[in-house]
Amino acid sequence: MRVLITGGTGQLGRALARLAPAGIQVVALGSGECDVRDPAAVRVAVETHRPDLIVHCAAMTDVDGCERDPRRAWQVNALGTQHVAAAAGEGGARLVYISTNYVFDGEAEEPYHEFARPNPISIYGETKLAGEEIVRALCPRHYIVRTAMLYDEAGRNFVNTMLRLARERPALQVVADQFGNPTYAADLAEAIWRLVQHPAYGTYHLVNAGHASWFDWACETLRLTGLSTPVEPIPASAYTRLARPPRNGILTSLAAPALGITLPSWQDALRRNLERRAKLLETSGSV
Ligand SMILES: NC(=O)c1ccc[n+]([C@@H]2O[C@H](COP(=O)([O-])OP(=O)(O)OC[C@H]3O[C@@H](n4cnc5c(N)ncnc54)[C@H](OP(=O)(O)O)[C@@H]3O)[C@@H](O)[C@H]2O)c1
Repeated sequence: MRVLITGGTGQLGRALARLAPAGIQVVALGSGECDVRDPAAVRVAVETHRPDLIVHCAAMTDVDGCERDPRRAWQVNALGTQHVAAAAGEGGARLVYISTNYVFDGEAEEPYHEFARPNPISIYGETKLAGEEIVRALCPRHYIVRTAMLYDEAGRNFVNTMLRLARERPALQVVADQFGNPTYAADLAEAIWRLVQHPAYGTYHLVNAGHASWFDWACETLRLTGLSTPVEPIPASAYTRLARPPRNGILTSLAAPALGITLPSWQDALRRNLERRAKLLETSGSV
């Protein structure tokens, strides 16, 4: 199977390439090689690599940046997805589109399953939801994979930010009344490789099991790393930012367990991530 990954330089794209099962040929492209805003570039990439499957990870993921520059957010997340979905449809490729818990407004009391009604409250969420709708319309053989709070060893993510700030500052203040499922890119990548073995097209929530607030996640990161920087819980109302994350951003899945696909707990995933990070630092000096 030949697989083309957009956003191949990002957290998930790199994990997918690293963890591709034997027998799968992967081409992972960053924005420099294939800017999804350019329909011709997308078409050339698909015609050149003739993938059986496209995993569309490319996105403008800076949620505050999306509020600052909505035009770019729509171009990358919605129009870019239109170009990828159209090329997949024309080239006869199946498509995995990576979406987000930000498609929900977070007002529900329960975790969100695949059939819950989206109602985004940020530009990022709106543009990613538009991408979902485009994929459903243009590419029947699709998997829409919603995930949350993604992190890998390298990359711009919450774990790296907490580790840096814990070393720079005497104390941290972290939001304790917004919740989600911290999800390790490696575990998500393995789940996606399992998912695409099934011709069971549709929408899937794939996150590490359990849920946490940003505060819980920060405390566990520091505890596992042996850092003793004090962490104070604060309400979201005390932390001003441009985008409003859903208060309840917790995903649960009906569809993935039906295929036998479950992910380990977020605490176990975080421990493995921190262990791998330490090993990489020891052997190569960087993650
Ligand atoms: N990060 C999260 O917490 C989170 C949570 C839920 C869902 N998701 C979704 O999961 C997917 C992967 O996220 P991630 O954290 O791995 O992303 P990431 O590390 O921020 O990487 C983003 C990727 O998108 C590429 N990209 C950006 N603009 C592009 C453009 N115009 N054309 C082509 N490629 C472009 C980047 O390429 P360059 O490096 O070349 O710029 C990079 O490879 C995204 O679809 C995101 O919406 C993420």
